[in-house]
Amino acid sequence: MTSVGIDAVEIHTGKLRLDLAETFAPEMGDAPEKYTKGLGLYASSFPDTYEDIVTMGANAAHRLLKRKGLKPDDIGRIDVATESAFDHSKPVSTYIAGCLEQVFEGDFHHANKGERKFACVAGTQSIDDAYNWIKAGRNRGRAALVIATDTALYARDDPGEATQGAGAVAMLIDEEPNLVELSTEQGYGSADETDFLKPQQQFPSVDGKRSVNVYLARMREALIDYERVGGKIHPDDFRLGPFHTPFPGMVRKAAVLAYRHITRDTEIEEELAEEIGRQPRSEAFDSDEAYLEAISEYTDALKGTDRYQAWYNRTIDPTLTLSRHVGNWYTGSVHVARVSGLKALAEAGEDATGERLLVGSYGSGAQAEIHVETVQENWREEIEALDIDDRLESRYELTFEEYEDVHDAHNYDEESAVEEFTVPESEFAFDGWGRMGERKYRYVE
Ligand code: CAA
Repeated sequence: MTSVGIDAVEIHTGKLRLDLAETFAPEMGDAPEKYTKGLGLYASSFPDTYEDIVTMGANAAHRLLKRKGLKPDDIGRIDVATESAFDHSKPVSTYIAGCLEQVFEGDFHHANKGERKFACVAGTQSIDDAYNWIKAGRNRGRAALVIATDTALYARDDPGEATQGAGAVAMLIDEEPNLVELSTEQGYGSADETDFLKPQQQFPSVDGKRSVNVYLARMREALIDYERVGGKIHPDDFRLGPFHTPFPGMVRKAAVLAYRHITRDTEIEEELAEEIGRQPRSEAFDSDEAYLEAISEYTDALKGTDRYQAWYNRTIDPTLTLSRHVGNWYTGSVHVARVSGLKALAEAGEDATGERLLVGSYGSGAQAEIHVETVQENWREEIEALDIDDRLESRYELTFEEYEDVHDAHNYDEESAVEEFTVPESEFAFDGWGRMGERKYRYVE
């Protein structure tokens, strides 16, 4: 059967940078280590006043299509995943297609367009939709363009403010992909949860502490569900584990729980038994409370073992490098983690062809998805084509006062007179409002 997966990817970062340790922490009365060590974050990418989900998504897609030498006719589907949309009816993909038609010959009139919503997991769901569309033979030889784009901003003084970010990831889903092939097998963990939501508002209502527990619970369910179809997961089967990364500290919490789960009843559990004992089994306890206490003590001990640390440093840590410098990109975040991990392998000169990735996506509200990806032969070329390091390096450094000014320019409900900090060049930029309240865009040469 034809393989289907991610053929190529492009990343666009918001053009402003907020230093969390140096600029944000002192103003909030926090120790810088809360950010760098606790949350695992150094900086947030922030959008300039002329940037939004459309410009960032269109810029990423423009570079992707140009680099791959594609024309509008080669694309049969454009899906945009976002939780920062500004319209309840007209999808962001129509705006992005309109932008791309300004710079490419031809049009996307025969491409199926849509917008996917399920918090941060919607980017992965859009990839799944594209995969199914191609596998069903409905693509007429064309590829799908999936764009995950968000301005992940929180209200001022919300604890989530520390984890903000903005950026877009554009991905080409195609047959015989160059980057990774997707598994047919998937596992889901999904429940009606009230942990993070945006009821008719641009900045979210968040129960931060609860959201962390919901993330862990749904991920665990998804892992168990995946094993029902994909078979028991063994830690050594995977070279990387890119997970949804609202902040690296979240993935640190998830990784140790995942490791505990996937080493249960394996030789690794036996080998570790001498040092930290075997994993507690619920049957051996009189109450849930006693069992939970024992399992929590075991997990703490597991975290401190060399064996776990070596696995974490090899499998998880490389996926977090970009996130540390850009913050949360909501729908794009797990896709940034994949790139971050593969980029580290490319930089280390490793031959990753045929290696497998255990990908954990998550969206509040809440749903997790686990699937597996296999690295393809031309992966290195695709990763080396990215210019994300230069783009991160050239971001404009915000002072705290500038940050305060620009923050609310991205709340669509409010008027803002903040001037732009950078000059748009060879990119799409917001160009004011139209007569029906639509947002307008132009390509700036
Ligand atoms: N040195 C070292 N570490 C320090 C420190 C210091 N001086 N000060 C604090 N820390 C550590 C804390 O111990 C804590 O680490 P642990 O959780 O491992 O104990 C970490 O830094 C953060 O400190 P707090 O818990 O005190 O931080 P907080 O309460 O201000 O906020 C948060 C944490 C609730 C996660 C908040 O950032 C938030 O609400 N974020 C938004 C919601 C979110 O991202 N949830 C994640 C799951 S939901 C999801 O994934 C979907 C999504 O994208 C939103």
